[in-house]
Amino acid sequence: MKIFICKVCGHIEFNSAPGNCPVCYAPEEKFEQNDKIFIESEEKSKEASPKHIPAIQIIKECHLIKEQACTDVLVRIGEVLHPMEEKHFIMFIDCYLDYKYVSRVMLSPNVWASGLYHLKTAGKKVTIVEKCNIHGFWMAEAAL
Ligand SMILES: [Fe+2]
Repeated sequence: MKIFICKVCGHIEFNSAPGNCPVCYAPEEKFEQNDKIFIESEEKSKEASPKHIPAIQIIKECHLIKEQACTDVLVRIGEVLHPMEEKHFIMFIDCYLDYKYVSRVMLSPNVWASGLYHLKTAGKKVTIVEKCNIHGFWMAEAAL
């Protein structure tokens, strides 16, 4: 699959670069194609995989948005919890539905390496992308 990265904010788009970055609104020219970005992170630091590959939980019964159908996507980085320290932390977690961008959770060393999305729309597959300030981009997927 084609992967495009926004050089301004690190947002990733699948298949094609957008007119403007949906996160920071940078124009299309700021996107750079690198289909191997996830493979590169893994190859650079193989031993780091358990602390970086997103662990995804899908919960279909939301207790917060009772009024409507809601699919909750809970994410932690990773199966072995990633540290959140001034010098080494997860910068953001982006969520996609069927490879279309949904939303970003911005993180800082003051919170755990985790994210939560209350999906309104139905889909088949959730993709989660995260960026570590030291170890780069990692992703995982889950069926809905
Ligand atoms: Fe890391």
